Parts: sequence; C-alpha cells; structure tokens
Amino acid sequence: MSPLYVFCADLITRKRGEKTAYNHQSVLLNPKCSLSCKPPRCLLQLQEEQTGSWKETFKEFVDVKANGPSSVGADLRLHGFNHVFGLPEHADSLQLRETRGEEPYRLYNLDVFAYDLHSRLGLYGSVPLVLAHKADRTLGVFWLNASETYVHLEYSSTDLQEAPPVKRRRTPPHTNVHWLSESGVIDCTVLLGPGPRQIFKQYAELTGYQALPPLFALGYHQSRWNYQDEADVKAVDAGFDLHQIPYDVIWLDIEHTNMKKYFTWDHKLFPDPVGLQRHLETRGRKMVVISDPHIKVDPLWSLYKDAKNGGHFIKDREGQVYQGSCWPGESSYLDFSSPQTRAWYSRCFSLKKYKGSTTSLFVWNDMNEPSVFDGPEQTMPKDAVHHGGWEHRDLHNLYGFYQHMATVEGLITRSGGAERPFVLSRSFFAGSQRFGAVWTGDNVATWEYLKISIPMVLSLSLAGVAFCGADVGGFVQDPEPELLVRWYQAAALQPFFRGHSAKETKRREPWLFGEEVTAVIRSVTQERYRLLPFWYTLFHHAHTCGLPPVRPLWVEFPTEESTFTVDDCYMIGGALLACPVTEPGIQEVQVSLPGPEEVWYDIHSKKVYGGGGTLRLPVILESVPVFQRGGSVVCRSVGSGTCTADFQLLPLDITVALDSQGEAEGELYVDDGHSFCYRDRKAFSLRRFTMQAGCLLCRAASREGSFHCETVVQSVTILGVKKQPSSVTVYIPGEDDSPASFEYVESHNVLTVNNLKLFVTVDWEIHIC
Ligand code: NOJ
Repeated sequence: MSPLYVFCADLITRKRGEKTAYNHQSVLLNPKCSLSCKPPRCLLQLQEEQTGSWKETFKEFVDVKANGPSSVGADLRLHGFNHVFGLPEHADSLQLRETRGEEPYRLYNLDVFAYDLHSRLGLYGSVPLVLAHKADRTLGVFWLNASETYVHLEYSSTDLQEAPPVKRRRTPPHTNVHWLSESGVIDCTVLLGPGPRQIFKQYAELTGYQALPPLFALGYHQSRWNYQDEADVKAVDAGFDLHQIPYDVIWLDIEHTNMKKYFTWDHKLFPDPVGLQRHLETRGRKMVVISDPHIKVDPLWSLYKDAKNGGHFIKDREGQVYQGSCWPGESSYLDFSSPQTRAWYSRCFSLKKYKGSTTSLFVWNDMNEPSVFDGPEQTMPKDAVHHGGWEHRDLHNLYGFYQHMATVEGLITRSGGAERPFVLSRSFFAGSQRFGAVWTGDNVATWEYLKISIPMVLSLSLAGVAFCGADVGGFVQDPEPELLVRWYQAAALQPFFRGHSAKETKRREPWLFGEEVTAVIRSVTQERYRLLPFWYTLFHHAHTCGLPPVRPLWVEFPTEESTFTVDDCYMIGGALLACPVTEPGIQEVQVSLPGPEEVWYDIHSKKVYGGGGTLRLPVILESVPVFQRGGSVVCRSVGSGTCTADFQLLPLDITVALDSQGEAEGELYVDDGHSFCYRDRKAFSLRRFTMQAGCLLCRAASREGSFHCETVVQSVTILGVKKQPSSVTVYIPGEDDSPASFEYVESHNVLTVNNLKLFVTVDWEIHIC
C-alpha cells in the first residue's frame, strides 16, 4: 500500500488529574479508498473558546469534568458510495439514514425499556463500524472509541436533488460521515475490502471472530421473567416433551435469587438447584441464570464484603464507592475494566464458590450498560471513576463488554479450560462476538417490533456480532396468537432463538394458544433443529472467516443494486433466502428473487423459480417463504428429537440444489459440539459436497482436522434434475460399487436417493446416469 494521502487527526489523551495534552497522530489511508477529511470541528471550537464548560447539568445530575471539556472528531467523505450500513444498535432500517438537519446516530449504551422504533438514539450496545457498499467495492470505517459517540451521515443524493440538472449528471455520489466522540483518541481504521467477504475478515482480524457456540446454544431457549419455582421449571420442561417441541435451555430471571443477590438462590422457591439441573441434564437440557453487574449493598453478604474489601467497585468522583439503585435497591457496580476485578468475578463462577451451580448452568448478563435506575439517563454518571483513574465517560460503551468477557472467562475456567461457554449479554461493543451472544433487549409484542427485529439482527451481523436474536413474541405486552406464530417462524431463522416475556405478561409457553398454534410452533422448531447441521457449519465459518450466518442480500449479490436496500428478506449463509411474514392477516407476499442468472427452489413446495423477478406467493399460517439457491448444498437432520443432543445422533439428508449448469457445492462442519477439542486437538471435520456432471462427491474440505463420528447420510435430495436417471451408483474407496434406490418426481424435477448409510466423515461418491 503506498500511502499518498495522510490524514492528520488530532487527539486528546488524558488520564484523571493530568493536564490536557493535544497530540497528533497520522492515520495512513490508501488513496484508492478516496477519502478526504476536514479538521475536526470540535477541536476548532475548543481552541477558539477555552471557556468550555467544566461542569454540565442534566436534570438533577451534575457532571463534573475533572479533565475539562473535550471531544475528538473526524469528517470522512466516502466517494462513490451512497449505501451505508452498520452502527448498531438502533431500532431502525438496515441502510443508515441521512441525518442532515436531524439527530445523528448516537452510540451510548442505555437501558431503554420498550424502545422507540426508527430512532437514532442509543440502545443497549454500540459498534462504531460503518460499512459502505457499491457494486464494485465495499469499504469499512472502524472508529475505535468507547465514549459517547455521534455519527452524522449525509448522502450526496440529497445534494443531487437540490443541484441544477447539469451538475446532477456530473457529480458522482458520495457519503459524508462525521464522527464525534466525547473523549479518548482518534483510532480510526479503514477496511479496504474490496468485497464484503474481505471486509468481514479484515474486521474480525481487528476485533476478533465470533466464538463458536456449543451446539445446544443454537437450539431453542425458553425464558420468562420468571419461572416461579422448581415445580414450575419441571412442568414447563415436561410440557415441551408432551407437546413434542424440542428445546435445550430453560432460563431463570432475577427472582430465582435471594433478594436479587446474584450467585445466590431463593431457597424457598429453589430448594435444590443442583437436583433441578441434574433433572434437566438427564433430558439433555441446560439451565441459564441471570447475573447482573450491580451488587446489592449488604454489609453482611460475603460477596459484597469481598468486592468492597478487594476494591472491585466503581468509585464516585469524590473517591467513595459509588452507589446507585437497581433491582436489589441500593447497589454498587463492579469495575469490570480492572483485570483484577475481572479475575475475581470469574472466580465467583467456580463450582466451589457458586453454590447450587453445576456444569450445566450457563449465564445471562443483563442490565450491563450499566443500568442505574437513579442515574443520569438511567446509567452510570460519566464522572464516576474506574481502575487506573479512568473516568466512566472514557469507557462507558465498554462496560458490558468487560462483564461479558469476565463471565465467559469464569465459565471456561470452571471447566478447566475444556468446555465452550455460553453467555448472553444485553450490552456489547465491537469485539463482543468473541464472548457469545447478544439480544435486542426489551422489545414489544407488536407487529412493528417483529418487523424491526430483522434489520436489527442484520445490522448486528454486519458489525461482527453475529450470534444475535430478539425476544420471541416481544418482551413487553401479550402477543396475539398470529403474531406469536409469525415471531417463532421468523426467529427460528435467526441465529439466537429465545422466547422471553416480562413479569406482567400472560404465560405464553407454546402450547397455551390451542392446537393449531402449538402445531405450527412445533413444526418450525423441529425444522430449526433439523437445520442445525447447516447453522453449526455457518457458525464455523463465522468463527474462522468472520462471515456472519445471516447476511443482507447485497452481501451475496454485491453487484445487484436492487438488493442494497432490502431488509425484510435476507440470506442464511449463501444458500437460503428467508422471507419472514411480519404483517397480520395477509393472503399474499411479494418476494424479489435476486440474480437474473440464479435458480431458486421453494423449500416447501420444491417449485423452481428463475432469479431477477418478483413473485407473488400465497401465504399460509403454517410456514413462511424460504428458497434454496441453485448451486448450493444444505445438510439437515432427518427425524425428530427433544433437544440438540438427540438431533446430533440423527442421520442426515443432503439437499443439492442444482444451478443452471447442473452444479452445486456446500460444506458441513462437525465436531463434538461442546468442547475446545476442535481447537486444541483439531478434533473436527470439515466436509465438502460437490456436484458436477451428475456426480456428487463427499470429500474433506480442509486437510486440517480429524474427527470421526457415527453420523450417516441417509438420503440425498437433488433439486433440478431434468430427466429420470436410469441408475444411481454409490462408490466408496476400497469397497465394491453398489446401486442405490431412488425416486424421481418428474413434475418437480426432484430426485431422491434413499436408504443410504454413508458416513459423513468418510469419502464417497454418488453417480447418477
Ligand atoms: C431487563 C431485561 O431486558 C429483561 O430481559 C429481563 O427480563 C429483566 N431485565 C429482568 O431481569
């Protein structure tokens, strides 16, 4: 890279008590990315008026700026781009909006109950990453700053509308991106692509790859604030079996504790937590409990005393332990920015210390923006002081990230480093993907919130936080049955799949709405479980290449302008196009199938469609439109079960969807599903299926890794076979060739080769003549 253009950014680095120092840093940019910049406006202002405010008041709160007023900023122009994405978390469209003359996107982690839709105010997490895309290039701008940040966007298309016609033809599009952060330094990286796949990799190299979840975490999670007691948990667990709906995890919210003291149990309601976990474990199921960052002020509680004596709490500006109010009442907040506090907190998860916990107990970090009920904007005052003298304002957006990190570390250490953890966090920052999953917080049981869950999940996915989802059914209020069904259908096609509801809502276990609703939820959940081999493979790709499992259409069809603004349909991997239904009572949906050269197969009807057109499809309650792209291979489990452990033992069906050349390819990743052996002993197998000239090959996709499992391929379904074959033969190296039985449905061009028993981790071939 020959840097022709040097971008001089001013930065301000200070620690508490130090004098303000203006430094200069150069960020080298590749000329090809065509960026330009102006001096940060905030700095000019600072230089002009040193009178700046050293104290700010907001309602009854006073923010004392011990280091004086500050801000850092930079203005970038992205030449040639007029589609910009990223900057989660906002409850808004996937493509970022023009903000000229309006409020900018705000990145400031806050606890916002029943948040407004289409708002640019901050929500629970922040990723300061902007992605810009045009037909021949994708670009990323990563602004590594964890203080309160604002981003203004100006699309040139607005200029164009206002400009005279002659100019309109000549001006290429561009987007201006103005970054402004309250404190810290300018640390800005431009990711050059050139395509989306390279951007994902470049960004993952900077901030980390998605953690590979244990397989159970990709199953269905049943949560509620709260499952009342042990009998309630057991009854819900049994209900899933009774109604033949698979699920993997039952969740306990804050009421399971003794007076909201995390790491404790309310022994009246949960007298035998270990017995309860064992009970679930015998059914292959797990439990998740909540653990928030606020600690009840209780001088008689050993954990509080330890934390206080160990200096693990955040201090106020006077140097006293900060106290604010949250669920337990008066609370202090652990200072997760301190490595010592993180290590101390991690140890709290050891089986010895955490009484009533077992290895099948996993964790949920909530309220970690942090939420402070009586704090400014319901969060920590900015002038609170962390380890090393850093003000809270400097690292606010990292608070939840660090709690997530410490919890994950605790679970890994608990198993002696052997087992993959599962931790869900509400708050997050760039890099949180390394620790596990996030969800979109306190949404509402309305159709609008169901609809917005799609762009929210896509935006998180683009910004690396790929293991994400929204509360099924909506957290606040009660969903009508049709909404609940549509929500299950949509969420079963999203990475993190959890039903959760607020305390005041009516119970909504899937069997409480009549047989018709139960049957649909059963069928979508079973279908999700059958697709787990595919999802798990996608998570392997996220873990190794940074590719998010769910992707906006433009990621797969980067040259097709018509896909750039689509955020109601999306791709699951490169193979499936999902179009959830997010409106009530509709009879028909319109689906635009991308790629004029592509072939698409409706996974339900097996009907084939050409790409590049818009379809009108009748809508039924039982399913939502999903299409498999010609040229892809998708593996599914065949049969049914009660949890992921059952499904792991089932045989597979491989669906080969032929493209217009009669070809297809796809991969399958397998390992033990729970440990780090895939990493430490390379105990995994990545298989590639390639269909060409009537021949389907199953081979190792990589030389790395060795894992043998008993999983067999039971059938192969080939979509798009134009004529009835005369024979199908199976070849296994070292064995005699054998004819295979098959069925051909001419009306749908579907060939099914069945009664197979081919080990998936062994090489084989199927020839169709
Ligand atoms: C807020 C969370 O967003 C919600 O999911 C949870 O149920 C409540 N806190 C109570 O813990």
